[in-house]
Amino acid sequence: MAQGPIHIPAMPQEAMRLLDLPSGGTAVDGTLGLGGHAVLMAERLAPDGHLIGIDRDRAALAHAKERLAGLDLKIDLVQGNFKDIGRLLEKIKVQAVNGVLLDLGISSFQLNDPKRGFAFSQEGPLDMRMDAGQGDTAEDLVNRYSEAELARIIREYGEERFAKRIAKAIVYRRAQEKITTTAQLAGIILRALPRGYTRGKIHPATRAFQALRIVVNDELDSLAEGLEQCLNVLKPGGRLCVIAFHSLEDRIVKNTFRRWVQEGRAGPLTKKPLQCSEQECEANPRGRSARVRAIQRIL
Ligand SMILES: C[S@@+](CC[C@H](N)C(=O)[O-])C[C@H]1O[C@@H](n2cnc3c(N)ncnc32)[C@H](O)[C@@H]1O
Repeated sequence: MAQGPIHIPAMPQEAMRLLDLPSGGTAVDGTLGLGGHAVLMAERLAPDGHLIGIDRDRAALAHAKERLAGLDLKIDLVQGNFKDIGRLLEKIKVQAVNGVLLDLGISSFQLNDPKRGFAFSQEGPLDMRMDAGQGDTAEDLVNRYSEAELARIIREYGEERFAKRIAKAIVYRRAQEKITTTAQLAGIILRALPRGYTRGKIHPATRAFQALRIVVNDELDSLAEGLEQCLNVLKPGGRLCVIAFHSLEDRIVKNTFRRWVQEGRAGPLTKKPLQCSEQECEANPRGRSARVRAIQRIL
C-alpha cells in the first residue's frame, strides 16, 4: 500500500488529557495538519460529537480528509486561519465548542516537501507560505526588504546573534543575482556565519529560515489574535490547549493565559508548560522543543 505523508503528532497523550473532551461534544483542531491529533480528538467525541478541523494549507486539508474518512462522527474541514475561528465556525453554524487545540508551526509534511520552500537542506523555490494562494513569499522578502529590516527580522524572530552578518550577505548577493531558492539562501547564510559556528544540534540556517517563515505567515500576530478568538468560541468550562515550539510563541501563550487568569476569564490547567519525556523526545525529535499549556474558560 502506498505510504501517505507522515507527521508524528507532538505530545498527544498530554494534549488529550488536558482537553478532556466529552463524548458527544464539539471541538476544533485549529491546526489540523495531517490529522494526527484530530483522530484522537474524534475518538473521544464519537459517535454523537462534532469535530471541526481548520488549516491554512489546502494540501494538508486534503490529506487529513482522507485520513479522517470513515470515522463515525460529524466532521467539517475548513480552509482558513485559526485567528478567524469565530467567523469560520459561524459559516458552519457552530456557536460554541468544548475544546480547541492549536499545535503551532508547520508539519513535517510541509517541511519535507522541497516545493514548499521551508527546507534549507533541499533545493526548492523560496516560498514558505502555509496558504500557498496568499501573500508574499520568502523570495519577495529577501529580495525586497532593506538590510536593516532583514537584520531586525532575523534577530527578533530567529533570535540569531549573527543577524546583521546574514542580512549584509543577503543584500550583497542579491545585487549580483536574484535569490530564488532555498539552497541558494542556505548557502548565503552558511557563508555569512563564522567558521565552526554551530547551534547545538540544529542546522546553522534554522534560525534565519524560522524568522522568514514567521514573517511570511504572520505567525505571531495570528497567534495573539487567534488566542482571543479561541477563548471567545469556548463554552464556559471549555478548554484551550496550545502546543508551542519556540520561545516567541510560548511567551505569547504564557502571557495571554496569565492575563486571562488575572481577569477571571480562565482557570489555568498547567502551572508550568508540559514538555516531552526523554522517551517521547527520542521517538519524535521535533517534540523536544514542544511546550504545552492549557486553560479552561470560566465565564
Ligand atoms: C504542527 S502542524 C499540525 C500537525 C497536526 N497536529 C497533526 O497531528 O498532524 C501545524 C499545522 O497548522 C497549520 N497552521 C499553522 N498556523 C496556522 C494558522 N494560523 N491557521 C490555520 N492553520 C495554521 C499549518 O499549515 C500546519 O498544517
